[in-house]
Amino acid sequence: MARKLFVKAYGCQMNVYDAERMAGVMAAEGYEQTDRPEDADLVLLNTCHIREKAAEKVYSELGRLKKLKDARPDLKIGVAGCVAQAEGAEIQTRQPAVDFVVGPQAYHRLPKLVRDGGVDTEFPVEDKFAAMAPAPRRRAPSAFLTVQEGCDKFCAFCVVPYTRGAEVSRPAARLIDEAKALADQGVREITLLGQNVNAYHGAGPDGADWTLARLLEALSEIEGIARLRYTTSHPNDMGEDLIEAHAGLEKLMPYLHLPVQSGSDRILKAMNRRHTADAYLRLIERIRAARPDIALSGDFIVGFPGETEADFQATLDICEAVRYGSAYSFKYSSRPGTPAAGAGEQVAEDVKSERLSRLQARIEADQRAFQVSMAGRVLPVLVEKAGRMPGQMVGKSPWLHAVHFDAGPELAGQVAQVEILESAPNSLSGRLAG
Ligand code: 5AD
Ligand code: SF4
Repeated sequence: MARKLFVKAYGCQMNVYDAERMAGVMAAEGYEQTDRPEDADLVLLNTCHIREKAAEKVYSELGRLKKLKDARPDLKIGVAGCVAQAEGAEIQTRQPAVDFVVGPQAYHRLPKLVRDGGVDTEFPVEDKFAAMAPAPRRRAPSAFLTVQEGCDKFCAFCVVPYTRGAEVSRPAARLIDEAKALADQGVREITLLGQNVNAYHGAGPDGADWTLARLLEALSEIEGIARLRYTTSHPNDMGEDLIEAHAGLEKLMPYLHLPVQSGSDRILKAMNRRHTADAYLRLIERIRAARPDIALSGDFIVGFPGETEADFQATLDICEAVRYGSAYSFKYSSRPGTPAAGAGEQVAEDVKSERLSRLQARIEADQRAFQVSMAGRVLPVLVEKAGRMPGQMVGKSPWLHAVHFDAGPELAGQVAQVEILESAPNSLSGRLAG
């Protein structure tokens, strides 16, 4: 009987993608995936270190897994991802039930770690992607593809430059091959992933360095691919050609995750973001001029050290000005080893909570208004799978809204035209048009 692997991803989409790749590596070793840790011979937690809460979650999960292991001592437990990179061997000190620790740049050495145990948080001398089996065949029409990893920006609050290392872009030819292989498996939508994806500068087949815009253009020539997206971007890497790609590439979806973090120039400076609020707003104007129906999404941090009420007000102002289609907001979490940790005046927890709820109310109102504005429109929906009700299918709008409508399963993987009739807080519903 095949051995079983339970893998759980925390945090960002790259972790979800990496978890799939790791499952691919272990499938080659005879492991089948299970969604029940109780059935597993091997449990892998792909962890996130971005905020303290995310990192702490891992230890409570490990506590639960230890109980499983007490009952079944041959169960193997591995910790992967950014907590693995940041804490290394400390993890095993804190939770001795952990058999191995594997950092994001060492996933291709997973089989050896599963066999021998230990800690591997080395940064690469070789291309781990070349050494990893492709992710297992997927049924969903959407897939991720990592094109770039790491970050050289060093925002003062962020662990990413330390956990994921310096920016590395993968060669374009290999990405085009992988995208073609995904299309051959029935994938219709590819989201290009990178911690700083719009800083992509991979070697092109022509010997020149390609920008993300050039890569998107090449990928949009793949016939089976209907939709392209990319995430996450930094405002300072939003090149002219990428803005133009939003005007010129029909397959590039009108949705852009472009975090600003704060609306206050003083805080932006302290965060080492290297741009002002005004520069960000002018950039958005240019992007909207290129693609008027684009929806913006963002990330915000409230309560960064030294943030005053006036600084926070500037963050609300930027939301007012941009009207995000969706946005994520977080309380500042001091991360060991980052420049902002211990620097400046910490904002009290209750002040952070209060600002967060005001910001979230503002964001939710805009999100809802955007969603409601879809009613009566006919939207192209990439059909994913059966909906909750019998005879229903669910898919995604160009702006990532879930859309429910009556249709048969034969529509899965197609782009259907759906007339939107109703807008609920978390989804849209409609009927097949025409
Ligand atoms: N505290 C709170 N939020 C953070 N983020 C990154 N680091 C921190 C931190 N120390 C947020 C940023 C980033 C998103 C992925 O997580 O908004 O864009
Ligand atoms: Fe972190 Fe800033 Fe890099 Fe984003 S751009 S990963 S927030 S350091």
